[in-house]
Amino acid sequence: MYPKLVIDLKKVKNNLDKTIEMVKGAGCSLMIVTKGYCADMEIYKLLEESDIDYIADSRIQNLKKYDGTKKERVLLRLPMISEAEEVVRHADLSLNSEIKTIQKLNEAAVKLNKKHKILLMIDLGDLREGIFFRDEEEIYHAVEEMLKLSNIELFGLGVNLTCYGAVIPKKENLSVLVETAEKIENKFSIKLKMLSGGNSSSVYLIGKNQLPERINNLRVGEAFLLGDETAYSQMLDSFYDDAFTLEAEIIELKEKQSVPVGETGVDAFGNRPVYEDLGVIKRAIIAVGRQDVDPENLHPIDSEISILGASSDHLILNVNNTGNRYSVGDTVKFKLSYSSLLRATTSSAYVEKEYIK
Ligand SMILES: Cc1ncc(COP(=O)(O)O)c(C=O)c1O
Repeated sequence: MYPKLVIDLKKVKNNLDKTIEMVKGAGCSLMIVTKGYCADMEIYKLLEESDIDYIADSRIQNLKKYDGTKKERVLLRLPMISEAEEVVRHADLSLNSEIKTIQKLNEAAVKLNKKHKILLMIDLGDLREGIFFRDEEEIYHAVEEMLKLSNIELFGLGVNLTCYGAVIPKKENLSVLVETAEKIENKFSIKLKMLSGGNSSSVYLIGKNQLPERINNLRVGEAFLLGDETAYSQMLDSFYDDAFTLEAEIIELKEKQSVPVGETGVDAFGNRPVYEDLGVIKRAIIAVGRQDVDPENLHPIDSEISILGASSDHLILNVNNTGNRYSVGDTVKFKLSYSSLLRATTSSAYVEKEYIK
């Protein structure tokens, strides 16, 4: 059945080994982030046998899948108070920035007779989660309150960059995390075990030897899955960018003019598309759509094919230069960028999976 996501587990394993070599070689512990492929359990088998330290996800539903397995589990998205008990049940560590939530996690941990570790998130300017780095009083207040909680361990500090503000991790901004940690340590006479220096956008600093020394953890999703560092979108040496590919089937193949006929309004997603007049061209419609992929982040492997547009269930391709290579019922193959991989795995009711072992 199509559409089909083909997962080459040998390539995934290669990328995993290279990520471990790179991150652990830099003296960091490694959290592998599994949300990009909805915590697929075939991939988990590779993770479990590997040398990674933590398995991390933003959704508790994904972490639940790992119940009874051996790696420590991390919740990446700040917990909702309404899920506090689930968080303590299914995660060993979570990223937090709100003392009210941390207090609820403590209550849940007391109830479940567990200890729960916390990374206090510091916002170094990307403006997503974390206490803003200049709000020192708020940082100290959070630490002070946390230290009063019986079943919470302040395990360290974390930062996330490049996700909202597109701020690039540098030695300078990550050093602010280290300085903040040292101020906390001095003020409260404690030792913070972990300083988590970000995601796939931080890995380029390893090659440049610019990761500040006390940064001792990274949380890596995209670099492991697709082989690119996300600060400057460079491919990493010896990684694969096609461990995941998508195949979809041609359901219509016809020559048509390239500009719609009649007055145009908005498309199925409320946009006003602009059509380039390419004359009459051969177009293929394939049975996959915006519900399953992000057409702007999907890349035909056949370089003669380009994507013209998409609706929820259809992708329209320009196949004018492909001669007679394709007919109705054939399939077209694509590489996926992160957002397409995320959507294809989330659309599991419609997108089949095939594993190359
Ligand atoms: C807090 C946090 N850390 C790490 C990651 C992993 O990011 P990336 O896939 O760019 O490595 C994400 C996003 O998935 C995240 O939200």
